[in-house]
Amino acid sequence: GQPFLAYQGSDLMIEGVRLADLAQTHGTPLFVYSKAAMLSALAAYQRGFAGRQAQICYAMKANSSLAVLQVFANAGCGFDIVSGGELARVLAAGGDPAKVIFSGVGKTRAEMKQALQVGIGCFNVESEAELDVLSDVAVSLGKQAPVSLRVNPNVDPKTHPYISTGLKGNKFGIAHERAVQVYQHAASLPGLKVVGIDCHIGSQITDTTPYLDAMDRILDLVAAIEAAGVPIHHIDFGGGLGINYNGDTPPEADALWAQLLAKMDARGYGQRQLMIEPGRSLVGNAGVCLTEVMYIKPGEQKNFCIVDAAMNDLPRPAMYEAFHQIVPLSPRSGDAATYDVVGPVCESGDWIGRDRQLVVQAGDVLAVLSAGAYCMSMASNYNTRGRAAEVLVDGEKAHLIRQRESAFDTFALEQLVG
Ligand code: LLP
Repeated sequence: GQPFLAYQGSDLMIEGVRLADLAQTHGTPLFVYSKAAMLSALAAYQRGFAGRQAQICYAMKANSSLAVLQVFANAGCGFDIVSGGELARVLAAGGDPAKVIFSGVGKTRAEMKQALQVGIGCFNVESEAELDVLSDVAVSLGKQAPVSLRVNPNVDPKTHPYISTGLKGNKFGIAHERAVQVYQHAASLPGLKVVGIDCHIGSQITDTTPYLDAMDRILDLVAAIEAAGVPIHHIDFGGGLGINYNGDTPPEADALWAQLLAKMDARGYGQRQLMIEPGRSLVGNAGVCLTEVMYIKPGEQKNFCIVDAAMNDLPRPAMYEAFHQIVPLSPRSGDAATYDVVGPVCESGDWIGRDRQLVVQAGDVLAVLSAGAYCMSMASNYNTRGRAAEVLVDGEKAHLIRQRESAFDTFALEQLVG
């Protein structure tokens, strides 16, 4: 699943660059991304949408580094944002505000104003209360806010409960049953212009069925809303396609969309403007996190491999018990032992991998795979650890796209009293 990452002899390479050289030059922990891998993941969607009117809005929460945004902006993508901070990043990276959609249940008035002033493409509104506030803010600026309502198709994406977003018990979206009424209300507000409908059913989805079910429900709703007199220009169909972390077998983006578009065609909606907001599937398998083995600590019950990356750098295992493959940059021969690969943070939950078979010594560098999505973007400074540096590889070239944070950076905004 990761053709941009391969051993050449005993050197793990990303595109044309030796990862060991990057670890040597920039230190560890270090995130390294392949530009070709991102563009190849994007190309699968582009193939799926050939001949259609479709806008891909990269869900930048997955990885919001400016240079990563620049790659997608240059490839024609818009962006799915969830804060004013993300909007500022899009603009700093040269993204087109007209291709921005703004999701999230808690947009502030200030964020709404900022987004209206730069002219974003659409607000994905998540509650009735938010509709009223957005209309107010728009009227005060003499503008009309383009809106979609995020409706809850109430399908089970069969993924981790923390990352399923379209079920009734979730905080997201508007109940399917209330959608027509809420659309009529939206259409009556002076500061709003209804432009679309939106849904998002979850993340790391590996099964096609929930998508097909959600599409049926959304198309039913489009029909009902239009019958009630509110035209729907675009359909924003979200649901995060999974990636292969550990033998996962999600459909390819183009194959998935062939099925979804067939359904849309059959129901007469095939020529509607489409939007999608993929995050993980565009960047997840384009990145690795390099980490150096500091100590080997054998134990009675467990052996520990203590590395210099921790839960603050790579929070997914601690947060979701997520699995990331861990491989050596230069494999050693010898007998493998079983290790828990853990970081230096003072928490038992600070682990990167459990029960891994490795042949390792202190000083070796390991690569944590599938680390392009929701790793750096969720990193923190816990234990006053500066966040890692990031490198973007393009063919034979490696660009440092973010410097390592120093301890000073982590407390630069603080002040003593007195
Ligand atoms: N659009 C909306 C409205 C979302 O809520 C999400 C993800 C996306 C798009 C992007 O979904 P993706 O294509 O990445 O699956 N931190 C978790 C994932 C949280 C996803 C939340 N929403 C993780 O590390 O697995």
